[in-house]
Amino acid sequence: MRVLSGEELDRAERLVVEARRRHFIVARAVLRIILGAYTDVRPEELRFRAGVYGKPALESHRGREMPAFNVSHSHGLALYAIAAPGRRVGIDVEYIRRRVNWLGIAERQFAPGEAAFITGVPEDERIHAFFRIWTRKEAYLKATGKGLSVPLNHFDVSRLPGGQACFVDEGGLLKEMQGWSFQDLAPCDGYTAALAAEGKVDGLYLGQWTGEDFGLPDGFECRGD
Ligand SMILES: CC(C)(COP(=O)(O)OP(=O)(O)OC[C@H]1O[C@@H](n2cnc3c(N)ncnc32)[C@H](O)[C@@H]1OP(=O)(O)O)[C@@H](O)C(=O)NCCC(=O)NCCS
Repeated sequence: MRVLSGEELDRAERLVVEARRRHFIVARAVLRIILGAYTDVRPEELRFRAGVYGKPALESHRGREMPAFNVSHSHGLALYAIAAPGRRVGIDVEYIRRRVNWLGIAERQFAPGEAAFITGVPEDERIHAFFRIWTRKEAYLKATGKGLSVPLNHFDVSRLPGGQACFVDEGGLLKEMQGWSFQDLAPCDGYTAALAAEGKVDGLYLGQWTGEDFGLPDGFECRGD
């Protein structure tokens, strides 16, 4: 059975690196299967449309509203978040790369308070502070659909682990944050992730390459209420 659309297969064809191509195909098929289960629509019948900045959303099906969702991939891992129709939801997962100059990235790209916070924590915690802030920022931007078209230094997220993960204090965005939920996720060793959603999230799923296979070993549910 063919699950992907012609457009998705064309996109896969354009991915030159075979591992990336296979990851895209399987991760997109898994997305369709998850969304099919939420909507009672056959996975191959689901139609996506892209927002102005490329965020995919489901088209309504036979007049029915469809759930909101967002996906993130990093280093063989895919995370999927599903929310009620019309809700904004964003998710970001990052493999913790130790060799990049993450302190330099924070100084150049984060809000000044965020960069200062990272340099102020004990050295062995800095990398985790960096990735925690990074994923919170990107999850929020993905929820809005604007992604990295918004400069990362235009807003400031909370930095401490746990609890309500996020607030925004610049550019008039603070008000917009009321009614949102933020969550730090630890999907598996070596990765960090964050979720940002208007209201609560209905489902959260993880897919991971294990050798040759891509599976959903730990489908997990959690709520952002
Ligand atoms: C969305 C964006 C943040 C993704 O960053 P990334 O770390 O490479 O990717 P992630 O794995 O976290 O997310 C990719 C998924 O997010 C979704 N996505 C794509 N565009 C999105 C957007 N604007 N907002 C939210 N989600 C988006 C897609 O489902 C995509 O998965 P797919 O490739 O299987 O279709 C980045 O591509 C972006 O900012 N795009 C919009 C603005 C833009 O084009 N800027 C260009 C200058 S930087």
